[in-house]
Amino acid sequence: MLISRGGTCARALLLLSTRMAASSISSNLIAPASASRRIHGSKPFSTQLLSYPPFLSRASLFSSHASVHSNKVHKKSNSRVAALLEIGGVKIAKDDVVRESDPTNNVPDSIFSKIGLQLHRRDNHPIGILKNAIYEYFDTSYSSMFVKFDDLCPIVSVQQNFDEVLVPADHVSRSYNDTYYVDAGTVLRCHTSAHQAELLRAGHSHFLVTGDVYRRDSIDSTHYPVFHQMEGVRVFSPDEWEVSSTDATSYAATNLKKCLEGLARHLFGAVEMRWVDTYFPFTNPSFELEIYFQEKWMEVLGCGVTEQEILNRNGRKDSVAWAFGLGLERLAMVLFDIPDIRLFWSTDQRLTSQFSAGKLGVKFKPFSKFPPCYKDISFWISDSFTENNLCEVVRGIAGDLVEEVKLIDNFTNKKGMTSHCYRIAFRSMERSLTDEEINQLQWSIRETVQTKLHVTLR
Ligand code: DAH
Repeated sequence: MLISRGGTCARALLLLSTRMAASSISSNLIAPASASRRIHGSKPFSTQLLSYPPFLSRASLFSSHASVHSNKVHKKSNSRVAALLEIGGVKIAKDDVVRESDPTNNVPDSIFSKIGLQLHRRDNHPIGILKNAIYEYFDTSYSSMFVKFDDLCPIVSVQQNFDEVLVPADHVSRSYNDTYYVDAGTVLRCHTSAHQAELLRAGHSHFLVTGDVYRRDSIDSTHYPVFHQMEGVRVFSPDEWEVSSTDATSYAATNLKKCLEGLARHLFGAVEMRWVDTYFPFTNPSFELEIYFQEKWMEVLGCGVTEQEILNRNGRKDSVAWAFGLGLERLAMVLFDIPDIRLFWSTDQRLTSQFSAGKLGVKFKPFSKFPPCYKDISFWISDSFTENNLCEVVRGIAGDLVEEVKLIDNFTNKKGMTSHCYRIAFRSMERSLTDEEINQLQWSIRETVQTKLHVTLR
């Protein structure tokens, strides 16, 4: 799979443009990101080089923190999540990102409520701790040569997200079923590779980009529609490989592998590793690094030698470069023993108090385990039905109380009608759920699935 989640991501091969329902969940106003963020890299620069979608205004060049204000100016009487975010100096109003009546927009409230939380900029959060551990590796191994960006706005153009990294025009990741579109030309970035080209154009030769990324997907303990990635790029000039006895591509590939093997050892200790050839649109050759950890082979990251076309288009014709991308949740789940991806979003003190800055790999102690409750839902699907759309409806209603949505039965009758039965697992990470609460959620899901997804309940 080209743009993968850094795991076994099977993206549905349906190209759809079904407008999703905005969720009916009443999300709380977002709490500002922790004040204990470090300032890395050149902040004002990061705001300067972004090309903003036209509706985003640029705030102060000197304020690069994420904050949330109640949005008195933009507030509409009927909006439930009224907020104005500011990320890296960019102001984002909810009404600009969530527009239910616009068929080119498929961002629900529940996703908007995640923009600006910036888990990766919290030094006491597992995602922030892991980011800082990777920074530490690069700073020590490369004398702080890599410039770090962690506040680039997650709202990017289709050009940045796909075209500039050579994602083919017909690639499945461009579909409305897989990606959150703000409008036909603007998306919530689905990978941090979206910033490669602009940073190259701005003249950077060594950089790391960390950020929240957004993907429509199925629901289980390792998938969440928002997660975090880190991207790394290093550009070499001819004098660097000319003194070696190898060609530019082999020089970059060897350097890349050495760098990333060192990173894996820094994070996981003396583990066994292997390289697997793969394909990404932006690199050639492309590889995945796997480590043998807890008795199985685990994919750690994707990487490769940057496609020459990307360098040529961005003012680096005579150079060669490598790039890598890694998913922070995946690694944090194994390093901290975190069993469910929803826990990263929990604000429960019993969880948050277990992690502190600089302590990589402290094992999470579950404070208690609450029982799951299962509910089934069966319906005749329509032509436009997709599992991602179903999951978004379920997530929009049940929020983080939904643990898994699983297809348990699927058949087509003689008339050619197809029936799906999904089992929804409800479980809170923090408390016991009541029957009444779950019944209400399920009832609401049934109703919304029928009206928004045009299926016929059985
Ligand atoms: N963008 C890829 C993804 O989201 C990850 C990736 C793979 C990034 C290879 C890279 C790379 O820079 O070289 O799955």
